[in-house]
Amino acid sequence: GASVEVDISKLEPGQKITVEWRGKPVWVVKRTPEMLSLLPKNDPKLADPTSTVDHQPEYAKNATRSIKPEIWVAQGVCTHLGCSPTFRPDLAPADLGPDWVGGFYCPCHGSKFDLAGRVFSGVPAPTNLIIPEHKYLSDTVLLVG
Ligand code: FES
Repeated sequence: GASVEVDISKLEPGQKITVEWRGKPVWVVKRTPEMLSLLPKNDPKLADPTSTVDHQPEYAKNATRSIKPEIWVAQGVCTHLGCSPTFRPDLAPADLGPDWVGGFYCPCHGSKFDLAGRVFSGVPAPTNLIIPEHKYLSDTVLLVG
């Protein structure tokens, strides 16, 4: 399918927007400095913290799984059976526990991912979320696909 242009000029820190690309949801999240600083805390609890599985382009194979640290792009599709996980940026919510520093929760079978889409150990989803090909056409326009 065709690529899709996304205007990110109005994306607020901490906000997620969803666009459609090839019939699937693609998320764009503007991560705050606090969100970014908390990512490494998850590393010991993740199944593939360094993203060894080939689920991202080479330019997103890094600690934040992104081109720019603050802007994160991913397919909003659980790697278990394809539900769309919910955005849970809240810290230490009652239902996800005191160690939760923000991420995504899949309501179908309970898989958990952090704010870089890295999967936690011991959940049904086997791998990190998929990062699609993308690039910046300008500071405010992103091209997905
Ligand atoms: Fe997400 Fe099963 S589809 S946990």
